[in-house]
Amino acid sequence: MEIRFFEKQNQVLLREAANLLAEAFPHCYGDCTAEDMEEYLEDERILLMAVEDGHLAGLVGAMPQYDCAWELHPLAVRKNCRHRGVGTMLVRALEKECAERGVLTIYLGTDDEFWQTSLSGTDLFEDTYNKIQNIKNLKDHPFEFYQKLGYQIVGVIPDANGKGKPDIFMARRIRTEEMEM
Ligand SMILES: CC(C)(COP(=O)(O)OP(=O)(O)OC[C@H]1O[C@@H](n2cnc3c(N)ncnc32)[C@H](O)[C@@H]1OP(=O)(O)O)[C@@H](O)C(=O)NCCC(=O)NCCS
Repeated sequence: MEIRFFEKQNQVLLREAANLLAEAFPHCYGDCTAEDMEEYLEDERILLMAVEDGHLAGLVGAMPQYDCAWELHPLAVRKNCRHRGVGTMLVRALEKECAERGVLTIYLGTDDEFWQTSLSGTDLFEDTYNKIQNIKNLKDHPFEFYQKLGYQIVGVIPDANGKGKPDIFMARRIRTEEMEM
């Protein structure tokens, strides 16, 4: 398994990337095409890929949203390559690239649209922090993957995807040497 920068000119990889997003997020990328990948390949962004036997196994991207905080998006690993550490390798490689660009914080939103955590199906304007602190993974929600990599829940957007379907915001500090406040 190799982690490299995405090859923008490689049409085969572009098609595989579009297929991967469609497989991982059928509800929002179901009709994703190679052309739709262009936004992830803009110059100021980072897009990394995991390649095995010449084929795409996963990809991860990040974009500058603040001077010192970049948003991780997207992250997907091909179904038959999951639970082999590929996601971890991709995120760690992305953190290294971001740190080299002076980024202090990586953050991401991980939606709960399908009742996968205890934060769905409840009014998150009530008892917000207690609910966050006691979050339970009901059905393979990826927040736990990010927690294992050191990301912590820093907030929620209640009803982001419909009533009782929040977005969960997570973040990790990736460099500490400039942290004098
Ligand atoms: C989430 C995803 C990227 C994880 O990739 P992966 O290559 O399977 O992850 P890893 O093998 O590096 O897993 C690292 C750890 O996280 C755990 N983990 C992975 N996915 C998990 C999930 N959905 N729920 C709970 N734990 C999970 C693994 O069991 C492993 O734990 P361990 O170290 O105790 O063995 C992958 O499942 C995926 O592409 N999912 C669909 C798209 C998606 O949800 N992307 C994130 C959107 S915010």
